[in-house]
Amino acid sequence: MDVLIGLLGCGTVGSGVIDLLAKRADRIEELTGLRPQITRILVRDVHKPRDVNVPPSQLTTQATDILEDPNISVVIETIGGIEPARSFVLAALRAGKHVITANKDMIAEYGEEILAAAEKAQVDILFEAAVGGAIPLIRPLKESLTANVITELNGILNGTTNYILSKMTSTGAEFADVLQEAQDLGYAERDPSSDIDGLDAARKLAILATIAFQTTVSLDDIQITGIRSITAADVRYANELGAVIKLLATGCDEGGDVRLQVGPALVEKSHPLARVDDAFNALFIHGDAAGDLMFFGRGAGSLPTASAIVGDVIEVLRNIRLSVSGRLGAMRMVAKTVNVREPAPTRHFLRLEVSDKPGVFAQIAAIFADANISMESVVQRRLHEQAAEIAIMTHAISPGVLKNATLILRDLPDVRFVHSVLPVVQGGNH
Ligand SMILES: NC(=O)c1ccc[n+]([C@@H]2O[C@H](COP(=O)([O-])OP(=O)(O)OC[C@H]3O[C@@H](n4cnc5c(N)ncnc54)[C@H](OP(=O)(O)O)[C@@H]3O)[C@@H](O)[C@H]2O)c1
Repeated sequence: MDVLIGLLGCGTVGSGVIDLLAKRADRIEELTGLRPQITRILVRDVHKPRDVNVPPSQLTTQATDILEDPNISVVIETIGGIEPARSFVLAALRAGKHVITANKDMIAEYGEEILAAAEKAQVDILFEAAVGGAIPLIRPLKESLTANVITELNGILNGTTNYILSKMTSTGAEFADVLQEAQDLGYAERDPSSDIDGLDAARKLAILATIAFQTTVSLDDIQITGIRSITAADVRYANELGAVIKLLATGCDEGGDVRLQVGPALVEKSHPLARVDDAFNALFIHGDAAGDLMFFGRGAGSLPTASAIVGDVIEVLRNIRLSVSGRLGAMRMVAKTVNVREPAPTRHFLRLEVSDKPGVFAQIAAIFADANISMESVVQRRLHEQAAEIAIMTHAISPGVLKNATLILRDLPDVRFVHSVLPVVQGGNH
C-alpha cells in the first residue's frame, strides 16, 4: 500500500529527501510493508531550476494543496524558520497528519506547542534531523538511553563555527580571514550571525537538554557567547597549553540543578571532542549507567540530513503499520531549577597584555591569591619593547569569582588588556 507524503520545501534538504526516498522506496516497503510516495511539493517559485528531477505537476505554491488533501497522511517540513513553517506544521498535525521536520528554530522555540498538538491528534511528530544532521541524537536520548540519568551533555553542534575554529588552529589565521574564506566557499552564510554568535548551537542545545534532562528548556535559560572575539593568539596559546578552542554547547544536571551554556572553550587535546574537526559535529554524553558516550558525524548537508529524515519516515510507517502512531511522541517533563547565572566551577584560560616591566606578574599573582584563585600554568611572551603577553591556566574556579578578580585586574595601570577569559574542558581517560 502506498502512503502519500506532502513535502514542504525543495531546497538543500528537501531535494536530498526526494533523492533518498526514491532510492530506498523498495527497501522501505520491505521493512514496513508500506511504500512512501511524495505526491505534492510546496515551494515559493515553481519555475526555479531544481537539483532533483521533480515532475512539474507535483510542485505547488499553495500549502492547502498538501494540508487539506485527505489522501496525504505524512508531511515533511523542510522550509525552515518560524513562520509559515510553524502554522503549516500545526495545521498538518490538527488535520491528523504525521509530521517530520528538520527545523531546529521552530522546535527549539515552539516544541512544547507542537508536541502537544501531535499528542492531542494522536499522530507522530519526529525531528531527528533538527539537531546534528545525520547523527542519531534525539532517538538515543529519547529511547536507548532512558535507563540513565544523564548528567552531562557537551557538544560541537554548529559546523560553520567548528570549520572556522579548525581552520584557525591548522593555519594560524585570524577569525575574520577564515570567516571570509568560509563565506566564499559557501560554508558560512552571507549573514553568519546565527552561527558565529552561538544562537544556532543554543537552539540545538535547548532541544537536546529538554529531552536529556526531562525538563523544558528555552533559549532564555542558556548563557550564549559566540566566537567573534577569538583571535589567532588565543588559538596559539591554547595549543601551547595542550588544548584547542571549540564552540561548545554544554549542559549539566547536578541533582536537578540544570546549567546550560554555549560559548568558546579550551578543550584539552586528550578529550575526544578536541579531535572533531572541520564541519563535523559531535555530542559527548555522560549517563550514570552508560558512562561516557560520543556521537560523531556530519551535522548538515543534503543527503546526511535526508538520512535522518528518511529514518523518521520509516518510523512513522512502522507506527502506522502497528497502529501505534502518536503513542511514543509525548514525554513527561519534570520541574527542575534551570540556573542561568551560576555556571559550575571549572579551570579557566586568561590572556592578558601587560607592561613589560618587573613586578607586574607579582601584582597579578597577588590579586589571584586574594581571590583564592590558583594558577596551574603560565606562558609569558614579550610582544614588543613595552608590552608582554601572559596566558594563564587556572585551577577550577567559579566564573563569578574569576569575573570579580578580572575586574580588579583591568583597573591595574600595568594591565593593558584582558583579552580573553575562557573555560577549560578537561581531557582525561576518555
Ligand atoms: N541545509 C542543511 O544542511 C540542514 C541541516 C539540518 C537541518 N536543516 C534545516 O532544514 C530546513 C531546510 O533547510 P535548507 O537548507 O534545505 O533550506 P533551503 O535550501 O533554503 O530550502 C528551503 C525550501 O523551502 C521553500 N520555502 C521557503 N519559504 C517558503 C514559503 N514561505 N512557502 C513555500 N515554500 C517555501 C523554498 O522554496 P524555493 O525553492 O521555491 O525558494 C525552498 O525550496 C531548515 O529548517 C534548516 O535549519 C538544514
